[in-house]
Amino acid sequence: MQTIVFPPYNTSPKRGLSDVQKKILKMKQERDAVILAHNYVCEEIQEIADFVGDSLGLSRQAKSTSAKTIAFAGVDFMAETAKILNPEKTVVLPDRAAGCSLEQLCDPVELEKFKRLHPDALVISYINCSAKVKGLSDIICTSGNALDIVRQIPSNRQIIFCPDQHLGSWIEEKTGRKMLLWNGYCEAHTLYKAEELLELKRAFPGAPLVSHPECPKDVRDVCDCVCSTEKMLSFCRENPSDKFIIATVAEMIHRLRREIPGKTFIAATSAGESKLQCKNMLMNTPEKLLACLENLSPQIELDADTIEKARAPIERMLEMSK
Ligand code: 13P
Repeated sequence: MQTIVFPPYNTSPKRGLSDVQKKILKMKQERDAVILAHNYVCEEIQEIADFVGDSLGLSRQAKSTSAKTIAFAGVDFMAETAKILNPEKTVVLPDRAAGCSLEQLCDPVELEKFKRLHPDALVISYINCSAKVKGLSDIICTSGNALDIVRQIPSNRQIIFCPDQHLGSWIEEKTGRKMLLWNGYCEAHTLYKAEELLELKRAFPGAPLVSHPECPKDVRDVCDCVCSTEKMLSFCRENPSDKFIIATVAEMIHRLRREIPGKTFIAATSAGESKLQCKNMLMNTPEKLLACLENLSPQIELDADTIEKARAPIERMLEMSK
């Protein structure tokens, strides 16, 4: 089994900013832009972003920023959420093709049909969905606040949860609440195999195994902690171990190393690879980030009706997870 062990950050040689990173910082000022980056983007972008975080933290930042332009290093549903919360701002992302399998696996027409079969059900959608699906939802959630939000719904109310069946089953397990689950899945997290992770645990005895709730149940069951990418930070900081196996997109480890510099992180292997990657997040390169700031393109453009319908369930999420 080949894997990547990231040694403690404070033992790595320090390097200065590259030319592209310097140009991005200069262009950011010219454009009065804020750079928001998801925990899954490359290290070069994380190093110069104004804020690096999970989907929930990024939505909060997008809502509160006073910058004229938001450059979103992430995938399209994240940049769309920023636009929905700030219709008057320019929102650019490095590559318009950076999507999400979960988003593609939930067709709004199919969701509308399903809603008609369950007219009294409340629709809670994971933020990893299209703006149209958001508009058909009552409340949006992220992996960081899903448990909290579902626990606030009266127990006699039926819930349709979409699009991630694995996040949905994790919520069911943790809250004891049965829901009607959509059958979407993350094409990256579902590559993990429980046996491979058990093998890693044997190879690194004592290192807690941390995964994301987008992993299937048999994988989650062999983990010591299942949580959002933001909560991985507090878990690894507070846990006394000096070594952790991280079962999520490997770029997460850059932030863990920077903020917890004395500990070692091991990227969990997936499907014969030495780490897990998200092909969509990898489309965010420093060169494309610079180009989108220079050209103010590609931009997120959504019609007013879509924005209006999608905004209410996102605002509801923000109110319910203060
Ligand atoms: P969070 O940002 O909620 O940690 O989820 C990670 C993810 O899989 C985004 O698609």
